Amino acid sequence: MCGIIGYTGADDIVRALAGGLEKLEYRGYDSAGIAFAEHGRLRVIKSVGRIALLEEKLADVRTDARCGIGHTRWATHGRPTEINCHPHLSFGKKFAVVHNGIIENCRKLQTLCENRGITPVSDTDSELIAHLLELNYEGDALSAVRRTAAMLEGSFAVAALCSDAPDEIYAFRRSSPLIIGVGKGMCCLASDGCAARAERTYLLGDGQYARLSSRGAEFFSHGKPAAPKRIQTADAGSCERGGYAHFMLKEIHEQPEAAARTIEAVGNRRLRGEVLYLGCGSSYNAALAAIPLTERGTGAEAHAVTAGEFLFSERVNGRGKTAVLLSQSGETADTVAAAEEAKRRGYATVSITNVPRSSLTRACRRNILTHAGPEISVATTKGFTSQAAALAALLTGAEEEDAVRRLPFAIERALGCDGDAKAVSELFASCRTAFFVGRREDCGAAYEGALKLREITYVPAMGLSAGELKHGTISLVEEGTPVVLIHTDPALKDKTLLTAATVRARGGTVIAVTADDEVAAACDFTLRIPFVPPLLSPAVSVVPLQLLAYHAAVRMGRDVDKPRNLAKSVTVE
Ligand code: AGP
Repeated sequence: MCGIIGYTGADDIVRALAGGLEKLEYRGYDSAGIAFAEHGRLRVIKSVGRIALLEEKLADVRTDARCGIGHTRWATHGRPTEINCHPHLSFGKKFAVVHNGIIENCRKLQTLCENRGITPVSDTDSELIAHLLELNYEGDALSAVRRTAAMLEGSFAVAALCSDAPDEIYAFRRSSPLIIGVGKGMCCLASDGCAARAERTYLLGDGQYARLSSRGAEFFSHGKPAAPKRIQTADAGSCERGGYAHFMLKEIHEQPEAAARTIEAVGNRRLRGEVLYLGCGSSYNAALAAIPLTERGTGAEAHAVTAGEFLFSERVNGRGKTAVLLSQSGETADTVAAAEEAKRRGYATVSITNVPRSSLTRACRRNILTHAGPEISVATTKGFTSQAAALAALLTGAEEEDAVRRLPFAIERALGCDGDAKAVSELFASCRTAFFVGRREDCGAAYEGALKLREITYVPAMGLSAGELKHGTISLVEEGTPVVLIHTDPALKDKTLLTAATVRARGGTVIAVTADDEVAAACDFTLRIPFVPPLLSPAVSVVPLQLLAYHAAVRMGRDVDKPRNLAKSVTVE
């Protein structure tokens, strides 16, 4: 989603901002821009498309300015055009603004601006913030910030420049995160820790605002100085590709360590009683794959609902039940809203998330952290496996503790199928459609495999229960259609063999993901995984599916880490 960057210090501002924007690229965006004050005037440079295109425009820019702001935009209000791209200037060009979030009362604010003779030039809610700052300005930018923030409803993280104070950045936020870094003779700000690296980093408090200059950062709340909250941000290494061709590949290989750290951190905490899982995308798939394990672990029925749908479901009383909210980023708007709704309905709320002090951890009563480290690739991999590992640890009894502890080694061994996955990926790079099927816990993994392929190759891929295939979808299987068949439970072997035979009888090409020789022999290709207790298998069986999608996307020349139209964390409902 949209990302914000700001820098004030001794460095060349154009290079400093361009470097910061590159660090935000992984969040997903469709346009980018920067602004800085030069000789008492605000200068804005923007471009639609990749940062590289903006950098072409910046190549010849020479300036004395040492303070500026930048933005990557993921379009919500208005198409990805240069006019809608941030930074936005106020009507008198006194303020430049970058914004992440959604201003819910934008219609009312637009009318207010229009009544004052201001006609917005863009379709964005963000431009209105710039106009309000100038309307509220009486010579003191900090007071204008305080008054403007009070007029906004919704979620926002904002950084602003004022042409009267060319070396200062003003920042304010509500709900959307904003990190401020302070170092020797410099200050910076960013939407996340990968881009804001300095000697000391702080999370700007909800409702707080700040003034940044090369002399340091001052924090305020309700017109009075406020104490900032010191945080640790990601270490530099975890935000770099470290020799891998893509972040996705690096993150796939980081999965054994991520799972091990997560299992260790869960320790002896356990989930009990009736559980309702809520999450989106891969987080929902991780929950789905854990349903059988949950029912065995808690002895009660378990369900998974996508967070977005839960908001509109019957308001059944949740008293005595636990809502478990899964989110890698902890910032997915649907999931955060679902947490609030679950509390209203009386559920006990528990988050499973990778980001401490995220919106989701603030919304939930109990929090369980996965320890995957920063995930940069838009397509999640270690986010999914660390959630699956956390659920395995939270739901197994003493008799399976050893098997849970061995999961990271099993993930490591599953990575050994990389060569085979690369070879088989050829089938997917040239197909019209593909299917991923499995039963019980393998069904959740199948959903995730299909999502991985869809999001990074754009091949229409469907995940479904193997048993459902014959109820309609098999009509799409034709000569050469790839069908990935996941099989982990020996008790279901007969059914798996029947599925393989049924697909092959229609000309489909069956790719088994299994440890079972007999199943392997009944299929066209096999991606080998080690045997693990079936209910714990999703963290392992998903690995070949990730590799398959990755290699197919590389073959097809796709932008693996930044697929079209997608954002890393979807902060709008
Ligand atoms: C996964 O590869 C996707 N990018 C997406 O489905 C993602 O899982 C979903 O948006 C939820 O994100 P979260 O886990 O950060 O809440």
